[in-house]
Amino acid sequence: MSDFNVQQEINKRRTFAIISHPDAGKTTITEKLILLGKLIQVAGTVKGKKNDRAATSDWMSLEKERGISVTSSVMQFPYNDRIVNLLDTPGHEDFSEDTYRTLTAVDSALMVIDGAKGVEDRTIKLMNVCRLRDTPILSFVNKMDRDIRDPIELLDEIEEVLGIAAAPINWPIGMGRDFKGVYNLYTDTIHVFKPGKGSVIAEDIRIEGLESDEAKALLDDEYADFCDEIELVRGASHQFELEQYLAGQLSPVFFGTALSNFGVREMLDGFVEWAPAPLNRDTDVRTVDAREESFSGFIFKIQANMDPKHRDRIAFMRVCSGTYRKGMKMRHVRLGKDVKIADAVSFLAGDRELVEEAVSGDIIGLHNHGTIQIGDTFTEGEEVKFTGIPHFAPELFRRIRLRDPLKSKQLQKGLQQLSEEGSTQVFMPERNSDLIVGAVGVLQFDVVAYRLKDEYKVEAIYEPINVYTARWVDSDDDKAFAEFKRKCADNLAIDGGGHLCYLAPTRVNLSLTEERHPKVNFHATREH
Ligand code: G4P
Repeated sequence: MSDFNVQQEINKRRTFAIISHPDAGKTTITEKLILLGKLIQVAGTVKGKKNDRAATSDWMSLEKERGISVTSSVMQFPYNDRIVNLLDTPGHEDFSEDTYRTLTAVDSALMVIDGAKGVEDRTIKLMNVCRLRDTPILSFVNKMDRDIRDPIELLDEIEEVLGIAAAPINWPIGMGRDFKGVYNLYTDTIHVFKPGKGSVIAEDIRIEGLESDEAKALLDDEYADFCDEIELVRGASHQFELEQYLAGQLSPVFFGTALSNFGVREMLDGFVEWAPAPLNRDTDVRTVDAREESFSGFIFKIQANMDPKHRDRIAFMRVCSGTYRKGMKMRHVRLGKDVKIADAVSFLAGDRELVEEAVSGDIIGLHNHGTIQIGDTFTEGEEVKFTGIPHFAPELFRRIRLRDPLKSKQLQKGLQQLSEEGSTQVFMPERNSDLIVGAVGVLQFDVVAYRLKDEYKVEAIYEPINVYTARWVDSDDDKAFAEFKRKCADNLAIDGGGHLCYLAPTRVNLSLTEERHPKVNFHATREH
């Protein structure tokens, strides 16, 4: 493409993910965003509604059986003069470590909150991951067409529970049956509620000025109360400050209803205006500027068997600088090898499409025949390694056992590879010969058992085990560390990468152990 201006292209990119609790409306809002943006590329699948899965990928029969998408996907669409990359974060039964890792590959996030339920626990977990990199968060309070909680209370909850300032951009006029629209606190404009049905985008009916006669007519008996409320909101809530948003300290908040496709456009307008273009990224050596010419990227996800016709795996790469051009040579830094990549893919409506060009902020898929791992860096020759793509401490644990004890070699090999891919994490206790697998989402266990059988021909069974969480441990004090290792030997294990972990049976046990060994560091994440 001769008129391909790289700097301009990079500045257009807005790469983000949605964080929310199941059922808050992530799928619905994704559909509306795509509708507004006229989808150009879909990688994997947009999780459809229950039995009505619009765009499906049938790459794995397990996925078919469950009617859900096992791994996340990437969607790219243009909006205004921007190119939006939306990385899906699996959230229901398909919640997994991939969900967390996807958040390491974005520049900002959209938090969707169910207005009736407020901040729920999955959102808190995902927010904690965003906090590792101070990711800017924009919020959408959904389901205004229902009776929701007091909006002021919701803002307080966001501030308290998530520890981030909340700055309302618009304010709802009524709710549920009496929902009349939203008032933009900055433009002094009312957007009148008119439900858009299905794939129809409702026209944007505006009333300029809260003082106007039309506004008075719309609000009728409630006019005076609403004006008082707005005065209160202006006085009591945070002002939107772009700098604070970009620093991850303040979240602009929009109210709306995704189902009725109302308020989504205003939110998206704000998003493409304020959300950061591709950000610079740290490596072990230096910070890579998103606008530098030399190509670089890292792998944040590996997806297996997406297409039954091609039994290989796809490694998802976030491009961090420069331009990917078809046929280019890349250095696979961990292996110290140059590889020619002619067949990086994006996905158009389920069919694989070859990418000609991709810039900072874009996601591309590389064919992986077992040589690529999560966290791998690719460059145009420079020996650097991107940081900030950690393993996350599993939240669920099972002992894994073989039906046929003669196959323990295959089991070890399979688990080793699956843990390198990031499908699961493996722990070997120091005091016994158990094999423990850890996961963030329960479906990961099924995926591992399925793939062990399908790809490694071993049948494994799970057994419950009393582990609450794992912490990677280290210390600068050799003596204190030796003492810790002696006293806690029963709880120590080595993970798939050879690192020492403390397996805590309960939350209380973990805090007591931390208290008793103040010179030992307990880490909830580990860099690859
Ligand atoms: P998720 O991906 O975050 O899990 O949520 P999803 O979009 O699937 O939405 C969960 C449920 O909430 C769906 O209803 C959806 O229709 C509904 N919903 C989403 N946004 C709104 C909204 O603005 N207002 C109202 N009233 N409901 C909303 P469901 O009954 O579970 O599914 P379906 O039968 O509608 O497909």
